[in-house]
Amino acid sequence: MNSDHDVSAQPMPDADRVRIFDTTLRDGEQAPGFSMDRRAKLRMAQALEALGVDVLEAGFPQASPDDFAAVAEIARTLKTTTVCGLARCQTGDIEAAGRALEQAQHARIHLFLSTSPLHRQHKLNMSRAQVLDTAVAAIERARGLCHEVEFSAEDALRTEPEFLVEVFSAAVAAGATTLNAPDTVGYTTPAEVVELFEYLRRHVRGAERVIFSAHCHDDLGMAVANSLAAVSAGARQVECTINGIGERAGNAALEEVVMALKVRAPHFGVDTRIDTRKLFPTSRLLTQLTGQAVPRNKAIVGDNAFAHESGIHQHGMLKHRGTYEIMRPQDVGIAETRLVLGKHSGRAALRQRLQTLGHTPDDAALDELFARFKTLADRKREIHDEDLQALALGHDPDALGPWRIVQLTSATHLGGSASASVRLAHTDGHESSEAAIGDGPVDAVLRAIERAAGHRLQLTDFSVRSVSEGGDAQGHAQLTARHAGRDWRGHGVSTDIVEATALAALDIVNRIERQTPAAQPAVVATS
Ligand code: KIV
Ligand code: ZN
Repeated sequence: MNSDHDVSAQPMPDADRVRIFDTTLRDGEQAPGFSMDRRAKLRMAQALEALGVDVLEAGFPQASPDDFAAVAEIARTLKTTTVCGLARCQTGDIEAAGRALEQAQHARIHLFLSTSPLHRQHKLNMSRAQVLDTAVAAIERARGLCHEVEFSAEDALRTEPEFLVEVFSAAVAAGATTLNAPDTVGYTTPAEVVELFEYLRRHVRGAERVIFSAHCHDDLGMAVANSLAAVSAGARQVECTINGIGERAGNAALEEVVMALKVRAPHFGVDTRIDTRKLFPTSRLLTQLTGQAVPRNKAIVGDNAFAHESGIHQHGMLKHRGTYEIMRPQDVGIAETRLVLGKHSGRAALRQRLQTLGHTPDDAALDELFARFKTLADRKREIHDEDLQALALGHDPDALGPWRIVQLTSATHLGGSASASVRLAHTDGHESSEAAIGDGPVDAVLRAIERAAGHRLQLTDFSVRSVSEGGDAQGHAQLTARHAGRDWRGHGVSTDIVEATALAALDIVNRIERQTPAAQPAVVATS
């Protein structure tokens, strides 16, 4: 056993602060429908750092070269937040995590190994002793590479408590600095969570030198309640995700955990470092980057979370807000009055509104955004926050290219068929024009873009939804297409849904070319 580390030199955990460990980019991103490319991950990571998360799990470096590159880029970029990489208790994983985190200001390797009887027998085919030895060897190896090592006993809540104590005690002795007891399958009740965490804190040897962490899944809708139960039993780290995204039913929603701890501070007696006024903008950023909206009635960040519809409630609210409101919308970053901008709005109003939404463009970027805002305002009477988010994200020069649309026309013909023609310009200077016939305008435009860019796209999913209100609302088109054995997702926003679809298809071909620069455009057969 490695003895050249001194766990007693770890700073003592300050008792009243709960660390927020965000796993939106790992547990969240691995869920179907939530994948993000590297630029989106970096953007999200920067927003999470601004939000004030203590630890950001950036990915699983050994999972793929893309994951490795994303973790390394986030590690290089973030300044104050601890960047964490996930690893199985295997040498290759640990070394990959160590390399990906090399340039981080503050780094953590997160090791996991199943401990429950079900997993030991059917997943690992390991005895208790083998699990214990594997965990200890991995922690020692990780400690040789990184000062902070978290050990997660996967499926901890279905593990024999006395075996969990044995594993965790060995983990502390081997140098783990955080012990995580995940409810991997979202099976446990709050009372059981309290019982287990109290038991662990009483019996694990060295418990006073480490931080206990909760990581709860939402299969029975108890992830947030279970995380809060763990806090009340002494856990001082909660693992969670923005909007509660994650495997299956998801993880505990960060915004719900944080606001419960804040609104019920006298009850919990703990605090976090989260700037709660950034919760709403961060949530909206994630929905824009993934194209997955939250339900209207979602706690804290849903459209209805602060809306009062019934007459009795409105009457009560006018007499005293406290009758029906336990927190103020502005506490979570929702402006009290939903300012709607229009074509007479000026630069200052646009800048102020963008700042509220979490965007801080410099003067040059604001000039460019303002020009695009005016173009949009000519087509659309009212510009809502959702429109501005779309505008601000679309503005990101890194997210653009190499292709852009120079011209697009489409026509629908009686009997159901449609035709479209596009002219695309590439950053290398050449242009490509193509036309296609399709079953409808969406199909036709997709075929035309596919041919012009030279990448075959097999459409597997398509949806359009309105991003704001009113008949002139912008449509958000989301496409998923299969190309070279991978699913690619693209988004586009416009007041015209055919144009939104074209932008989404272009987003896909641009992602393909950016992520696989050597991708040679293929000649696409005429259909
Ligand atoms: O749910 C789980 O057990 C996990 C571990 C990797 C921490 O995500
Ligand atoms: Zn998980």
